Amino acid sequence: MIPRPARAGIIAALDTPSPAAAERLAERVAPHAGLLKLGLEFFVANGPAAVARIARHRPVFLDLKFHDIPNTVAGAVRSVLPLAPAMLTIHAAGGPAMIEAARRAAEGAGEGAGTGRPAILAVTVLTSTDAATLAGCGVSGGPAQQVLRLARLALEAGADGLVLSPREVAMVRAAHGPAPLLVVPGVRPAGSDPGDQARTATPEEAAAAGADWLVIGRPITAAPDPGAAAAAIAASLGR
Ligand code: C5P
Repeated sequence: MIPRPARAGIIAALDTPSPAAAERLAERVAPHAGLLKLGLEFFVANGPAAVARIARHRPVFLDLKFHDIPNTVAGAVRSVLPLAPAMLTIHAAGGPAMIEAARRAAEGAGEGAGTGRPAILAVTVLTSTDAATLAGCGVSGGPAQQVLRLARLALEAGADGLVLSPREVAMVRAAHGPAPLLVVPGVRPAGSDPGDQARTATPEEAAAAGADWLVIGRPITAAPDPGAAAAAIAASLGR
């Protein structure tokens, strides 16, 4: 598994369906990012071979957010292991049996090329989701309570870490201590456009709250100079 950074590190989210655009972004941001995140938009359009090409620049966080019956999720995890992603995501809301199945499937990776297994991260509540959205889905109590509930469930079921918004990081650190890997999207440098993100904080705030990795997409990828934007954020984190 990828070592925990001493200071919060940057994961650059390369959210594009274009392999050429992802390659250009990867080249520019790789000096400032610990990992490169590829999600459904890229994977569905281009498949595993394109992921392997991006992984030549930096270890890849494969953010496919699996959520299905345990047997299917275990199979999906086994199917991505040949790509040796450093991290992959499942939805905590899939429940303990699904999370345990993902973890067991990932442990098969150690038997392969000696790259170690990927960290299994459980997505708690998407950072674009607010209390009204949760209530509409039948979840009362708001995001903080739901994140705490899903965090406990996921960690007890064997997740290595969690994906959660900057607003809940300090609370989850206090509840679960230093062990879980906390990966935090919804990060916006002061003055930047929140876009569709509802629960945001600046990189400095997210790091101070206890995040290990900050997932940053549009503030880097939509900047006129993505390399400079990533460098500025890295500098703001003292890296
Ligand atoms: O562009 P932006 O910085 O908002 O990108 C955030 C990235 O983090 C996107 O790739 C999104 O899919 C991902 N993400 C998120 N909220 C989660 C999990 C992942 O925004 N809970």
